[in-house]
Amino acid sequence: MSKTNDKKLWSGRFKEETATILDEFNSSFNFDKRLYKEDIICSIAFAKTLAHCKIISSHESEEIIRGLNKILEEIETEPQAWFEKNKNEDIHSAVESRLINLIGDTGKKLHTGRSRNDQVITDLRFWLKEEVKLIISLLKELRGTFLNLARKHYDTIMPGYTHLQQAQPITLGHYLLCYEQKLHRDLERFFQTLERTDVLTLGSGALAGTSYPIDRKFLASELGFKNISENSIDAVSDRDFLLECLFNISLLNIHLSQWAEEMILWNTEEFKFISISDAYATGSSMMPQKKNPDIPELIRGKSGRLIGNLTGMLTILKGLPQAYNKDLQEDKELIFDSVDNIKIVLHISNEFLQNITFNKDKMYESVNRGFISATDVADYLTKKGVPFRIAHEVVGKIVAYCIERNRQFKDLSMSEWNSFHKLFGDDIIEKIKVESCINSRNIYGGTAPEEVIKAIQRAEKRAI
Ligand code: ARG
Repeated sequence: MSKTNDKKLWSGRFKEETATILDEFNSSFNFDKRLYKEDIICSIAFAKTLAHCKIISSHESEEIIRGLNKILEEIETEPQAWFEKNKNEDIHSAVESRLINLIGDTGKKLHTGRSRNDQVITDLRFWLKEEVKLIISLLKELRGTFLNLARKHYDTIMPGYTHLQQAQPITLGHYLLCYEQKLHRDLERFFQTLERTDVLTLGSGALAGTSYPIDRKFLASELGFKNISENSIDAVSDRDFLLECLFNISLLNIHLSQWAEEMILWNTEEFKFISISDAYATGSSMMPQKKNPDIPELIRGKSGRLIGNLTGMLTILKGLPQAYNKDLQEDKELIFDSVDNIKIVLHISNEFLQNITFNKDKMYESVNRGFISATDVADYLTKKGVPFRIAHEVVGKIVAYCIERNRQFKDLSMSEWNSFHKLFGDDIIEKIKVESCINSRNIYGGTAPEEVIKAIQRAEKRAI
C-alpha cells in the first residue's frame, strides 16, 4: 500500500511523518474495508446517541448522519474507486476522515467518547451477528436435507462399519440421522455463540469507559444489541465470541469432512454405494475414464484452513495483556476467511447431497457378503441362556470354520450349527437374515426402521 491520503487522525503528538513501511505494516484497510457498512451504521447510531444525550446538538448530529449516509452512498456506487481514493489505516479512520472532508469541523465531533478499540469490536460483533444468522439458516437447510433423505431411506439396508470393517447391518436412514444429530448440535452451538456475540461494547472507550453520559441502553436498542458489556476492559479485549465461532465452524466442517470422506469412499469402484450426478463431479485432464469427487474432497480439505484459523486466533490471544493490543487486528482475516468458507461449504454440501443417488442394490449385496450377523448369532445363544462371552467364542469359531471353507452362515447345515452348539435350532436361519438383525434393534435410538421413523418425528419436532 502506498502512503495513506489523509493526515492521520492521531498525528497531534508526532513531529515526523510515519515511515511508508509502517503504514503498510500497520494498516488493516485492505481487509477491514468490507466492514464499511457496519462501521457507518454503528457511527450513525452513535451520532444519534450523542445528540440524545446532549453531548452534541441535534443539528450537529443530523449533519454527521447526513455525511455518513452520503459516504455509504459513495461507497456503494463506486466501491473500488472509493477505497482507492480513501485508503487509510483502517476503515474506521477512512470513514471518519472522509466525513471530516465532507462536512468539516462538525465531523470532528463524531469520535467524542469513542475509541477505535470499542468501535472496531462493535462493528465486528454487528457484522458477525448477521453472518452467524446466515450460517444458521444454511445449516438448517442442510440438516433438513439429511432429514428428508432419512425419511426416504428409513428402511434401506446397508452395512454399518467400525474400524472401517463391516460390523452390523444398519438402515441408511439411521446413518443419515447420525449427521442430522451432529448438525443439530452444531446449530445449538451457533445459537449459543449468537447470544454471546449480541453484546454492545460501545461506551467502553479505549479501555476504562468514558466520562461522557452516553446512554448505552439507548445505543444498544438503536443497534439492536440484546445485551451491554459489563466491563470496559473486557469489552475491548474480549474475542471469545469470535473464537467460539471459529471453533463452531471448525467442528461443523469436521463433521462435514467425515461425511465427505464417506462419500468419496462410497463413490469408489470398490464400494459403489453412491453415484454422483455429472453436474457435481469433475474429470481428469489425462485419464478419460475418471469422474472425480472434487466437491467432497474440497469439503474435507477445507478443515485444514478452518482449524488453522482457530489455532491462529487461540495463539494470538495467548498471553495477551489487557486491554486492547494491536495483535487483535489479526483477528479479522481469520474470521472473514472461516465465515466465507463455511458458507460455501454448507451451500455446496446441500446441493451435493441432493444430487447423489444411493445404490440400494449394491448396499444390500454388500451387506449379505460377510458375517455381519455374527453378533446376532451370539445374541441368539445368549437369549437361550448361554453366557455372552461363551456365545461370542462359539460364534468366533463358526466364523473361522466358514472362512477356511469359503462359506457363509447361510450355507451351514443344521448339523454343522449343532456341532458348534446344541442350542442352535431351525430358527437360526431366520435370525441371521439382515432384515431380522435390523428389525431386532428396535431400542430407542436404534437402527430398526420403526425406530428411525420415531427418530425422524422427534427431529421434526425439535424447536431449533
Ligand atoms: N484496525 C484496528 C483493529 O482492527 C482498529 C483498532 C485500532 N486501535 C488502536 N488503538 N490502534 O484492531
